Amino acid sequence: MEALACLTGRRSVGRLVEPAPSDDELATLLQAAVAAPDHGRLRPWRFVVVDGPGLDRLGAAYAAAHAEREPGAGADAWAAARDKPRRAPLIVAVVARPTPARKVPDWEQLASAACAAYGICLAAHALGYGAMWRTGWYGDAPAVRELLGLADRETVAGWIYLGTVPDDCVPAPRPPADLGALVTRL
Ligand SMILES: Cc1cc2nc3c(=O)[nH]c(=O)nc-3n(C[C@H](O)[C@H](O)[C@H](O)COP(=O)(O)O)c2cc1C
Repeated sequence: MEALACLTGRRSVGRLVEPAPSDDELATLLQAAVAAPDHGRLRPWRFVVVDGPGLDRLGAAYAAAHAEREPGAGADAWAAARDKPRRAPLIVAVVARPTPARKVPDWEQLASAACAAYGICLAAHALGYGAMWRTGWYGDAPAVRELLGLADRETVAGWIYLGTVPDDCVPAPRPPADLGALVTRL
């Protein structure tokens, strides 16, 4: 895909189906991620690939987290939490891991992790797959953090859901951006 068409034509897709990117394609997505701008070459990110039974393990952790946070929510809510990872056949959790560095504040390292996440989304689009960047409080929940093996300073910058765009997918309309209102020139 032509680069500018990839940048301007990418859309998020909330429900993705099999097939997921192959292992080789996944490696390409991760190469795009690690090409993120990275001040000081700190590599302030790592990735957890979740697929197959891993999606169910993540779903179980989501359900446990939900039950702990909202004990009165009830079985339907916990089941909905458990099913969330099954919205795609593959998820890459982008883990931000800022290291204390005098020259490079944490926010720059988080920005680098965001670029890595976006790199995965763009590369997936370039390969003809759909992607959706999700976050939410589940990444902060002890059950989920333990499953991912997150250290104290690590956070989930994004759950990148990946897979094939279903034939009946209609992307939500994206309001046109008024560049005149967003851009000034000195
Ligand atoms: C850091 C970040 C977190 C996001 N988290 C969520 C989320 O948890 N759930 C969601 O529906 N969209 C989330 N989004 C927004 C979607 O990824 C997507 O950008 C949005 O639906 C607009 O669609 P588009 O990318 O096709 O313009 C997030 C975006 C960013 C940058």
